[in-house]
Amino acid sequence: MNYVFLNGKFIPKNEAKISVEDRGFLFGDGIYEVIRAYKGNLFRLDDHIERLFQSAEAIKLPVVYSADEIKENVFKLLEMSDQKDVEVYIEWTRGVAPREHSFPEDATPTFLIMLLEPHSSPPERYRKGVKVVSFPEIRWKYPYIKTVNLLPNVLAKQHARENDAFEAIFVHQDTGIVTEGSSSNILMVKRGKVYCHETDESILFGITLKVVMEICEKTGIEYIGEKFTYDKLIEADEVFLSGTGAEIMPVVQVDEHTISDGKPGEVTKKILAEFLKMTWREDKISEYME
Ligand code: PDD
Repeated sequence: MNYVFLNGKFIPKNEAKISVEDRGFLFGDGIYEVIRAYKGNLFRLDDHIERLFQSAEAIKLPVVYSADEIKENVFKLLEMSDQKDVEVYIEWTRGVAPREHSFPEDATPTFLIMLLEPHSSPPERYRKGVKVVSFPEIRWKYPYIKTVNLLPNVLAKQHARENDAFEAIFVHQDTGIVTEGSSSNILMVKRGKVYCHETDESILFGITLKVVMEICEKTGIEYIGEKFTYDKLIEADEVFLSGTGAEIMPVVQVDEHTISDGKPGEVTKKILAEFLKMTWREDKISEYME
């Protein structure tokens, strides 16, 4: 975990420096990805790299490395690390240039790969489920782009922390529509069917959400991608979050509303068990659920 890949070189993390004129710093003009490695196995690396390129294209970022080159450098960094349960963080900005809003003509993008401590939760949290709080949907119209412009998400997560909640979920104040969490997608279960906001421009199409869709398909659970309101959410039979950090996290409380009997539901547990199998932790299933 002591090395990073920065602009073509592997260097010690404490020696890695980025210019004060980097557009990621000045304008939040950049994108990122977070990928989980379990016991040295990268989970859905190809999907994450594909989404990285989709984000790059959406903000017209010049391409500096091919997908294969990025993957190779991720593998090398992981090989160099003693710790094999990590989060791989990739950030790609428009590079260093004198401050001017429009794109610089000749800047080379900044490209960073570093390893982070995973945001993993203790199994007990999955057994008991968590609380989430609502937060006004104050973001721009393109949350499908994984940009480093995360101020609304930062404010939302802080609101969660201050209210003893695991996550904050964005809710449109005018329509009551629930979009997603500050760093996760939110799903609900009603009469055995799993619902999540449709994967349009107003949410990030999570890689973990894609995995949930696959699990539903495989296990015969009906999955419906459509918008739902806060009122529907609090009356759901089950609620859960999906994300690289949250994994499949049962939600048992939304603001002051208890979901069903206040315990993780059967559909959520089934999806969580499949997820644990897919992430090389089949032996841990009993620790994660009651
Ligand atoms: N966040 N929605 C938002 C707004 C997110 O930031 C994330 C992930 C997700 C879930 O996506 P995925 O399943 O691909 O991780 C949904 C990462 C983990 C982060 O910002 O740290």
